[in-house]
Amino acid sequence: MTQIQIERLGHQGDGIAAGPIFVPLTLPGETVSGTLDGTKLTDVRIDTPSEDRVRPPCRHYKSCGGCQLQHASDAFVADWKVGIVRYALAAQGLKADFKPIATSPEKSRRRAVLSARRTKKGALVGFHKRASDIVIEVPDCTLLHADLMPAIEAAKALAEVGASRKGEISITATLCNNGLDLAVTGGKPLDGPFLSVLAQLVEHWGLARLAWNGEIVAARLPATQTFGKAQVIPPPGAFLQATHAGEQALLTAVKDAIGGQGKLGLDLFAGCGTFTLPLAEHAQMHAVESEAAMLEALNGGWRHAQGLKGVTTEARDLFRNPIIPEDLKYDFAVIDPPRAGAEAQVAELAKSDIPVLAFVSCNPVTFARDAAHLVKSGYKLDWVQVVDQFRWSSHVELAARFSAV
Ligand SMILES: C[S@@+](CC[C@H](N)C(=O)[O-])C[C@H]1O[C@@H](n2cnc3c(N)ncnc32)[C@H](O)[C@@H]1O
Repeated sequence: MTQIQIERLGHQGDGIAAGPIFVPLTLPGETVSGTLDGTKLTDVRIDTPSEDRVRPPCRHYKSCGGCQLQHASDAFVADWKVGIVRYALAAQGLKADFKPIATSPEKSRRRAVLSARRTKKGALVGFHKRASDIVIEVPDCTLLHADLMPAIEAAKALAEVGASRKGEISITATLCNNGLDLAVTGGKPLDGPFLSVLAQLVEHWGLARLAWNGEIVAARLPATQTFGKAQVIPPPGAFLQATHAGEQALLTAVKDAIGGQGKLGLDLFAGCGTFTLPLAEHAQMHAVESEAAMLEALNGGWRHAQGLKGVTTEARDLFRNPIIPEDLKYDFAVIDPPRAGAEAQVAELAKSDIPVLAFVSCNPVTFARDAAHLVKSGYKLDWVQVVDQFRWSSHVELAARFSAV
């Protein structure tokens, strides 16, 4: 038996003691004992619990790998997530003012990737067990929106007909305006008879849309999402902010950042128009994104909406082919890159005359790198807001304002 004290949390939310020794489900300041297995402590017993320790709200928490921080108070998680961003900025020599964190409520996730496996008796659907590829069922999940929960039973029926006993299928379940929008990958190949089985299941479960291995099998109802005044039908499984509350918090931060002044705006890494379309209520927008299908969806939403200013779209790889300063003549720009950040595009933005940038990021480390480039080039980092739409996970998202000085 080894007894150690937890010093801090790692980026995956594991407690870390000197060594380093990793101890999942523990908190800084706790004294714990267990069996040392390399750099991990197993059979862990909490000897002195932290004041921040709480009873996990979900009964699946001990085994389910979906959440990492249900044993910590909301206040602790909020401070920890803000601290991660503060630390990443400090590593680049930057400081920022932080707006209060916006945390999505429990049971608000409108999108989840479920795993499913066919079994002797039927099928198993849920999330992976902690640190394992075993699928465990989560009928009382405290993360998913109540209207998304029926996706679990529908996914079970799909796995029974379309998964092999050996492999797993993955079901991206999204709540759209007309119910459930499911996109399955890793399922058996589509053929005529199988297609009609799937079509029957779509009817039976009242799904809005089903895509199988990238192909739309049935679109019973339009799988719309509302972005401002527009109704958009994203391609199956396309990027969508994880909660409605998170999307609204990010949009509010973006609007605060640009201050409602500009007439001409640029949305970089625009996706299906989460920001472009609401901003088009007041400004003419140009949306740039690598996925042509997402831009087609954005465009469709704009064409059918009433009362929006002009929106243009451009399919472009902004990593390999960033927009150069001569073409960056806008009153404001929104930038919301994937986890890798936007090094190449930020290098060009840094040379532009755009007075204000609203930066949305899902990776504090690449954000801090890109922020440092902007600050070195004459932008000021006005504020940062952490937006926690991946509640109880170690994932951190943020919005920030940069202004030209
Ligand atoms: C974090 S998402 C944001 C999407 C959108 N702003 C939203 O909030 O829904 C990042 C987007 O960047 C796009 N993307 C990824 N790599 C890209 C690249 N090299 N060039 C342009 N867009 C890219 C993805 O397709 C995705 O839509």
